[in-house]
Amino acid sequence: MDEEKTLTGLPDHMPDHVAVIMDGNGRWAKSRGLPRLAGHKAGTENLRRVIRACVEFGIRYLTIYAFSTENWGRPADEVSGLMNIIKDVIEKELDELNQQGVRLCHVGHLEGLDPELQRKVMGAVKLTENNDRLILNIAFNYGGRDEILCAVKHMMKDGIEPDKVTSELFSTYLLTAGTPDPDLVIRTSGEMRISNFLIWQSAYSEWYFTPTYWPDFDKEELRKAVFSYSQRDRRYGKVSSKEV
Ligand code: FPP
Repeated sequence: MDEEKTLTGLPDHMPDHVAVIMDGNGRWAKSRGLPRLAGHKAGTENLRRVIRACVEFGIRYLTIYAFSTENWGRPADEVSGLMNIIKDVIEKELDELNQQGVRLCHVGHLEGLDPELQRKVMGAVKLTENNDRLILNIAFNYGGRDEILCAVKHMMKDGIEPDKVTSELFSTYLLTAGTPDPDLVIRTSGEMRISNFLIWQSAYSEWYFTPTYWPDFDKEELRKAVFSYSQRDRRYGKVSSKEV
């Protein structure tokens, strides 16, 4: 399909679980002569639009990479700015998200976060626990390698025998236990890296890279991404079903 053509409607074959590396906030801000935090604020506004679009498109799971274990290494004012943005979002957007039927889940470590933020995250998770229109997993203070190491340690503590270790069992020890693997992973801003995001879960995900910076990745860009996904032939290391 011609990518430039305006797409309307939705494809028949939609991803159930979309994961997003929301990249390019800093460059979006720089290109406008603004401070980096202005980019994160614009990225947050955009997140609200993308969540609405996911609800409208009938996507069941959205996992977003909001703050990695490596992001602590950013300048202190950027780190504290991002923490404040998360706090603000929970304070100001929670009711609307709840009304939309969005269930908020935190994927990552709570320890290490400011106690007030920990309480707000736990409160948001609790308030929305019975919603099921869209499961919004927020990867915050999250790293894929760290997640795998924690899972291994936990299994060892549980005394799991090596020959009992299967992919299925291992998945139940991950922070995403109970969530299907992402069908589609989107990375904005032109970078083509995994950056320690869902490294186990995305083993057979379809990837979609776009040069668009996250604050500009709107509903129509999401539509393009799901149309691209719908044309993929997912073989999981086997041959196409059309060839057998
Ligand atoms: C990457 O862009 C973006 C981040 C590290 C933070 C993303 C966070 C938000 C959009 C805030 C909203 C999140 C929630 C859950 C409310 P970058 O800063 O690395 O951009 P650059 O590569 O252009 O510098």
